[in-house]
Amino acid sequence: MVDNDELSARLDTSDEWIRTRTGIGRRHVVGPGMSTVDMAVEAGRRALQSAGSADIDAVVLATATPDQICPASAPQVASRLGLGPVAAFDVNAVCSGFVYALATAAGLIAGGVSRRVLLVGADAFTTLLNPDDRATVPIFGDGAGAVVLRAGDPDEPGALGPFDLHSDGELSDLLVVPAGGSRMKTSQNPADSYFSMQGPAVFRHATARMAESSRAVLKQVGWTVGDVDRLIGHQANIRILHATAKQLGLPADSLVVNIERTGNTSAASIPLAMVDGVNDGTLQSGDRVLVTAFGAGLTWGSTVLRWPGVTPA
Ligand code: COA
Repeated sequence: MVDNDELSARLDTSDEWIRTRTGIGRRHVVGPGMSTVDMAVEAGRRALQSAGSADIDAVVLATATPDQICPASAPQVASRLGLGPVAAFDVNAVCSGFVYALATAAGLIAGGVSRRVLLVGADAFTTLLNPDDRATVPIFGDGAGAVVLRAGDPDEPGALGPFDLHSDGELSDLLVVPAGGSRMKTSQNPADSYFSMQGPAVFRHATARMAESSRAVLKQVGWTVGDVDRLIGHQANIRILHATAKQLGLPADSLVVNIERTGNTSAASIPLAMVDGVNDGTLQSGDRVLVTAFGAGLTWGSTVLRWPGVTPA
């Protein structure tokens, strides 16, 4: 765990600036030798324990920081969990990854391809950051969270959907690691190998897109804003979460918030907020929950569910 004071000791920033501008107080950072797969395996193990069964026929890993650029990391997660030769693949929609992967897993089940899916959101996002960049280092943290999805009745608690998913590739430069991919494998400029972010523009897009997508999904499911008990938004910045709730006309206390102790954990942010929301009693069985996320790509999306009576392991 790295708190703001530790960061302030080596970067030109302060606990006061980070807290007031982002709501973040501390974040987990992977130690040397630890990776996305290591965290995903631990989260997956706990989700299987909570579900009471390791009977899984697909593993979907939402991540933008796979252990290697090739292959995907989900097969390593599946094999380290001892799940056998199950379907396993990554979904990369960065901070929207968990919502995109929920839609993917729900589609696998609805299409009869899978019966029970282990869905993990995991990112070692700090491995993408320039350690000297005060614009990004305070904001991001590392983590993993997981859920098990199964086929069921659309009326039972936990039933997911509909979904509202979008992207805008014209704005991909707002949040980007320029080098390392097929367009520019290596670069003479060290900055190209690190994540760069145009913070204020991202702030505006994140708020507008999450509010717009939330409205769209509420319209699809036929709920009014007043029907929503809880809003689980991507934990990017407390001010983005508050602005999104305000744009929707939801009270701030409907938000499930854990950003103070996590930072922005990218694809892990929503499942970690879910676990913390259950543990602190914010999320109750039967709650009508709106889930919304925004991330690099740009990508964004939303879904709804009735909160199931789950006990995190
Ligand atoms: N510590 C101290 N000062 C900092 C700082 C830091 N860590 N980072 C930036 N500043 C300074 C800037 O240099 C600027 O100084 P100036 O006015 O002298 O030029 C000032 O603080 C304001 O910077 P600005 O970038 O305009 O601040 P902001 O209020 O927009 O907050 C973010 C910056 C990054 C917190 C905010 O834009 C944000 O959260 N954006 C969205 C990021 C995000 O969610 N990314 C992930 C999307 S999934």
